[in-house]
Amino acid sequence: MSELIPEIETRRARRALGEKPVPQEVLARVMTAATYAPSCFNSQPWRFLVVNGERELEIVKEHLAGGNYWAKKAPVIVLVFTRPELDCTLSDRRDYAFFSTGLAVENLLLQATREGLIAHPIAGYKPVALKEAFGVDSEMILINLVVVGYPGDEAHLNEKHRELEHSPRDRRPEDQVILYNRWRQGSGDVEAGA
Ligand SMILES: Cc1cc2nc3c(=O)[nH]c(=O)nc-3n(C[C@H](O)[C@H](O)[C@H](O)COP(=O)(O)O)c2cc1C
Repeated sequence: MSELIPEIETRRARRALGEKPVPQEVLARVMTAATYAPSCFNSQPWRFLVVNGERELEIVKEHLAGGNYWAKKAPVIVLVFTRPELDCTLSDRRDYAFFSTGLAVENLLLQATREGLIAHPIAGYKPVALKEAFGVDSEMILINLVVVGYPGDEAHLNEKHRELEHSPRDRRPEDQVILYNRWRQGSGDVEAGA
């Protein structure tokens, strides 16, 4: 039996979503969990636009990349925004807004998992058009969407995605990404272990 936190162990980016609505109190808990993430000087650089209205969801779904067709079943899609100026910007390209916002999104994913939901982050959408559709200031970066819903039927998935739904977790060998005490030259190369 694994000794990892159960939600870390069980969370997967699954795609077989059902259309069952997510109760408001569940959604509120998931979003509160996101905001409990740490950030540099407590800057809290994340901004979430939680979309669950029928017309508003349609708009988001019109802006998805073709490969994210499966997200059209979702009863909730969270638009995640940030911009570097909302968090510490330190030397050597340390723009912490993206880091902190990522921590918040992971909290969201884990709380959603705890609630029996699928929460799947995606980068495949038209960011500029989607921002415009919701009247969001162009300075904001729509860094990802999180597709949220209860598990549902796999019938609407293509064959590749149906297979992935049951695939084991796929990770690089740990010794490629975790080093103890000594840096190994080449560890940061793009092709390392690819
Ligand atoms: C920044 C980011 C962007 C992603 N974009 C997409 C996407 O557009 N479509 C998709 O189906 N999955 C997307 N994913 C999900 C990843 O493919 C998935 O997390 C990865 O394959 C590992 O699988 P696991 O989360 O089940 O362990 C994205 C994940 C992240 C963190």
